[in-house]
Amino acid sequence: MDQFKSKIAPADGKLAVLLPGMGAVATTFIAGVEAIKAGLSRPIGSLTQMAQIRLGKRSEKRWAKIKDLVPLSRLEDLVFGGWDPIADDAYTAAAKAKVLSPEHLVEIKGALSKIKPMPAVFDKSVVKRLEGQNVKKGSKREQVNALMQDIRGFMDRHKCSRAVMVWCASTEAYQEAGPEHRSIAAFEKAIDENHPNVFPSQLYAYAAIMSGVPYLNGAPNMSCDFPALIELAEKKGVAIGGKDFKTGQTLMKTIIAPGLKARMLGMEGWFSTNILGNRDGEVLDDPANFKTKEVSKLSVLEQILEPERYPELYKDLQHKVSIHYYKPRGDNKEGWDNIDIVGWMGYPMQIKVNFLCRDSILAAPIVLDLALFGDLAARAGMKGIQEWLSFYFKSPQHAASVYPEHDLFVQKVRLENNLRYLMGEELINYLGSDYTNE
Ligand SMILES: NC(=O)c1ccc[n+]([C@@H]2O[C@H](COP(=O)([O-])OP(=O)(O)OC[C@H]3O[C@@H](n4cnc5c(N)ncnc54)[C@H](O)[C@@H]3O)[C@@H](O)[C@H]2O)c1
Repeated sequence: MDQFKSKIAPADGKLAVLLPGMGAVATTFIAGVEAIKAGLSRPIGSLTQMAQIRLGKRSEKRWAKIKDLVPLSRLEDLVFGGWDPIADDAYTAAAKAKVLSPEHLVEIKGALSKIKPMPAVFDKSVVKRLEGQNVKKGSKREQVNALMQDIRGFMDRHKCSRAVMVWCASTEAYQEAGPEHRSIAAFEKAIDENHPNVFPSQLYAYAAIMSGVPYLNGAPNMSCDFPALIELAEKKGVAIGGKDFKTGQTLMKTIIAPGLKARMLGMEGWFSTNILGNRDGEVLDDPANFKTKEVSKLSVLEQILEPERYPELYKDLQHKVSIHYYKPRGDNKEGWDNIDIVGWMGYPMQIKVNFLCRDSILAAPIVLDLALFGDLAARAGMKGIQEWLSFYFKSPQHAASVYPEHDLFVQKVRLENNLRYLMGEELINYLGSDYTNE
């Protein structure tokens, strides 16, 4: 197993963290890293910075911090850049997003003010509720070439040895893969023909993959989740992953549902509703954009509960999800869940969850972990879809031949075993027979 370890290139030099979309999530992420670097904050919520992983047998009592086990980029070596159709620098954007208090922001104002978004590839027809002037002109081919130049230019200017891209931009309108997404040739032809079905996020993903830069998608839109870009990522040896950061209500679902199912409790319904008042909420108020989010949120329970395998328990499950844009709430989303469960002899019970969460506070550490693990994957020569990162996504991108894994605890074991594997450590299967059979 040691052979993999020797193949991981060291995390030497600076890492460009490139973010399409410099709104609430992206600026909260950058601000947090700057605050941590300045000794003003702690990386709460980040596995790469805080989590420890067990190594070897239980009797060995061996644990290591993930960041000490695997060679990850240091926070000091991260350099942030991005694109946004709104020209605000990261400080102004963070101040407008109102996630962090002015007292926190002022302490890192210097670092944030320097980060100015590059002109975006933007198409108002797929994000109708947004206006922005900081946009690239020209054909799709010219725009994608400009993105590749931006990547190279940024890395040169900041003397970065590597880069990683995490999509933190608005959710695009719902779209299913069409003929133009079926193969690399068809997709490149569609770019050359300025085809309307090639959405901006797909151009960023294409530019990243062509530049050898890992691409992780934090929104539910297709972006890199279609045959042409999966094939391209394999061919170019680039790591990709998505979709949609798993933060508030869906995080709760993937914690609670596996537990109820493990105890073979039935479920008749799960009703979820949310209010939020940030720009993301405004974009999702458009039905075409909400549809993209709805599909991502709905897929979770079906896969976890497996109604086809357990029809007596879950066949009649009604799963409803709604999001309401409610301005006074800002980024502090409130989610209500009502879960109708069924126990022994068919007796009904209810569980109510009222989660007063902070959207971007939950998403920021995910951006950090994805950036660092995406870069690790690149240095370890891992290409194509990174299923071991499913832990972070509502709608994990997966190979066509398998179903996605949604259970948070299975996802965690998978992630940890992947790290053990990379470092030539024994994989843990929790059999424990060494102790019980003694
Ligand atoms: N907990 C969470 O906050 C959470 C969870 C899951 C997914 N997401 C997704 O993450 C994304 C970011 O969320 P947010 O709260 O920061 O939203 P936001 O509206 O504050 O920021 C998004 C930014 O993207 C920009 N943008 C739009 N189209 C762009 C393009 N083509 N290129 C570059 N920039 C573009 C917008 O101008 C905006 O500044 C959304 O898609 C959201 O659905 C967020």
